[in-house]
Amino acid sequence: ATIPKYVTDLVIPPVMPPLPSDGKQALDEYLIAVRQFQQQVLPPGYPKTTIWSYGSPTHGNTFTYPAYTLEAKVNRPVRVTWSNELVDDNGNFLPHLLTVDPTLHWANPAGGIEQRDHRPTFTSTPEAYTGPVPLITHLHGAHSTPENDGYPEAWYLPDAKNIPPGYAPVGRYYDEFRETFGRQHKVAWKAGSATFQYPNDQRATTLWYHDHTIGMTRLNVYAGPVGFYLLRGGPSDLPPGVLPGPAPARNDPPGSRYYELPLIIQDRSFHEDGSLSYPSATQIDGFDGPYIPESDVSPMFNQTFFADTIVVNGGTWPLLKVEPRRYRFRLLNACNSRFLVLRVAGDGTARPATTALPIWQIGSDGGFLPKPVRHEQLVIGNAERIDVVIDFTGIAEGTALYLINEGPDHEFSGGTPGTDYAVANPSTTGQVMKFLVGPLIGPDESLPPEQLELPAFTPLGKETGTRRFSLNVQRSALAPAAGPIAHLAGGVDANGARTPLHWQDPVRDNPTLGATEIWEFRNFTPHAHPVHIHQVQFQVIGRGADGRTPPDPSETGFKDTVIMLPGHVTRVKVKFDLPGRYAWHCHILEHEDNEMMLPFFVGQPPK
Ligand code: C2O
Ligand code: CU
Repeated sequence: ATIPKYVTDLVIPPVMPPLPSDGKQALDEYLIAVRQFQQQVLPPGYPKTTIWSYGSPTHGNTFTYPAYTLEAKVNRPVRVTWSNELVDDNGNFLPHLLTVDPTLHWANPAGGIEQRDHRPTFTSTPEAYTGPVPLITHLHGAHSTPENDGYPEAWYLPDAKNIPPGYAPVGRYYDEFRETFGRQHKVAWKAGSATFQYPNDQRATTLWYHDHTIGMTRLNVYAGPVGFYLLRGGPSDLPPGVLPGPAPARNDPPGSRYYELPLIIQDRSFHEDGSLSYPSATQIDGFDGPYIPESDVSPMFNQTFFADTIVVNGGTWPLLKVEPRRYRFRLLNACNSRFLVLRVAGDGTARPATTALPIWQIGSDGGFLPKPVRHEQLVIGNAERIDVVIDFTGIAEGTALYLINEGPDHEFSGGTPGTDYAVANPSTTGQVMKFLVGPLIGPDESLPPEQLELPAFTPLGKETGTRRFSLNVQRSALAPAAGPIAHLAGGVDANGARTPLHWQDPVRDNPTLGATEIWEFRNFTPHAHPVHIHQVQFQVIGRGADGRTPPDPSETGFKDTVIMLPGHVTRVKVKFDLPGRYAWHCHILEHEDNEMMLPFFVGQPPK
């Protein structure tokens, strides 16, 4: 059945309540749990969807998908106890909503990650994992120390009654990090949670938080846990009133009007009963699974997943009634695999589409751009945030406009929509949301985007050297017809040849504390990958076949995730000012979960 579009209003996530405080603490404190519950994601009349999300167990029923937004201030720390509450009413653990492939390099609470070979050979059909679910939260784009960063191997299980003996309650680095953290902040610890502190000592920007458990991030995030974390204030922000606002705040009266809205765009598929649909068996070209005897093809894993329904802020194809004035939208592509190519069009289905309104970009992952950039069409890779202004001023009441998607329904490789690749199905994933222009209620005092003077931008200093990386495809050794079975991050040797690595290989990259380096990535795969580096906000220096093409103006601010096109060299400048263990990876979640991720260690790692 076709799901009707634009029948439900866009949900605007409210602000997460902090724990009560006496006002003397120089930080904001939160208790945030992940729970399983049901939500009307599909339109009214359709079944509800069982979902996971973050919420505040101590403050009313704040469990919604996506999660409530965290509002933080520059230089005021935030401390969050992240609790894994994937348990039922009796305190027993809940199994995963989706099929967990136990053959990847993954958390594996029952077996231990150390015992897992890089790419095992299966001699019998492995069973899907049905045990308690490990979780670990990463605040994406934050300047976090390692023990607060949500390292993929620092996961923990819920504090459930029925965990079988022999299950590891925590991952490999949990104890190492917990000890460091406990010494620094004297925080009490209990099973099933981790307390992280974020210094917020970076530019005002749009961050987001999501699960990061090794080898199962694609499944955990698909099940729902994601939210925005907005960092405001200080000289890297604009004073209130310059940009369209307000955004939601704590204790807003019902019916408050907002002109700054976060938009989490995702693709999801649903079963008839409303439950989330995600493939439970490998579907790759030239191979009809589910299992090749004595093979190295992971039986339930897929290289990518492209769902058939667009969900914005937890509802399918929502409608937003707008006034004829300016709006600020913080866009996030939180799809597992899908790149989005967005445009505001007067017609949702016509292709080729024409632009009805420009999208003015004012910020990227790491804060405001040096100057606003006008887009007819906007490419947004997985995990990228794009801060934009859309100006509906002067548009007649009753006009309908559409946010459409001209990205592909498969891997993205760059190029012109409709010329270089077939665009997403115009009647489903080619549409995102609808804007319906109503009457003007309050005057708009914000500045037109073309007149905005954005906060001063100080580029990074001179680099001390270049480090080379590669993005690679791995083919099956035992069942060549199965095609690619994994994507591997790696290095490049002196001749420019790829040297793929695995997550559990010895750490290769040890930037010196305080160093500024060029990281140069060669993409040896046929597709684009959005690559994310933890700890840092970097600058894009060059692109193209030789890495010397200057970046687009929209990439001249700070970024933590950058699109790397096939065959290209992408060069970024990075400064490392926090010591310790971090990760970099492709943010296509299926790639990240299967070896397109490597650790790095700022300073010398312990032996
Ligand atoms: Cu948004 Cu390492 O992740
Ligand atoms: Cu990738």
